Amino acid sequence: MSSPARLVVMISGAGSNLLALDDACRRGDLPAQIVGVLSDRPAALGLERARARGLHAEALPIAPGESRGAHDARLLAAASRLQPDLVLLAGYMRILDVAFVHALQGRLLNIHPSLLPRYKGLHTHRRVLEAGDDVHGATVHFVTPDLDGGPPVLQARIKIKPSDDESTLAARIQRCEHVIYPTVVKWCTSGRLRYHEGKPMLDGRSLETPVLQDFDL
Ligand code: GAR
Repeated sequence: MSSPARLVVMISGAGSNLLALDDACRRGDLPAQIVGVLSDRPAALGLERARARGLHAEALPIAPGESRGAHDARLLAAASRLQPDLVLLAGYMRILDVAFVHALQGRLLNIHPSLLPRYKGLHTHRRVLEAGDDVHGATVHFVTPDLDGGPPVLQARIKIKPSDDESTLAARIQRCEHVIYPTVVKWCTSGRLRYHEGKPMLDGRSLETPVLQDFDL
């Protein structure tokens, strides 16, 4: 790991997790620097926000007729040029192909807005409310080719309030995300968290279940 650690962040949307990670770096809470932001969406607000902070930000939209494999190969090349220690998916909404994931195995993390393995995929807040669950959360996990199925490391959990709708729930979940993503990155940069033979190891022990952090929000 470089010192400070080199982070590449991949986004498709507003980039609030990107900003939380960058804030943690700038405050000195995270011994890391964001060396590049990549997006499949040129109009992503997160790209604009990254540039406003002076971060290197590149849009790499899929070209007409381009296959997912070819697009992901371009993305991998762009990420690799930045020599990242870690690549962080932060609201990156395209499925990445196996070659991309394998090339970065153990250095590729994602944040997902649910208590995985519950509610993989999209519209998690809506589905949680429809199911009448009492709790909801977010998960930081290592990425494997199994979509949203890679080994989870840290989960944030909150109680669902009777008054919650999709937007209030999404807002509270994001506040948790902004805490747990920098935490996991810090575990990586400090050497506490490693990826060994397909499993996360925290403090030298295989992490069979994710660390759970309750938030009273
Ligand atoms: C985050 O809530 C993240 O968990 C979710 O997208 C949002 C991005 O917000 N990711 C996924 O749904 C991935 N399947 P942001 O752009 O403000 O960080």
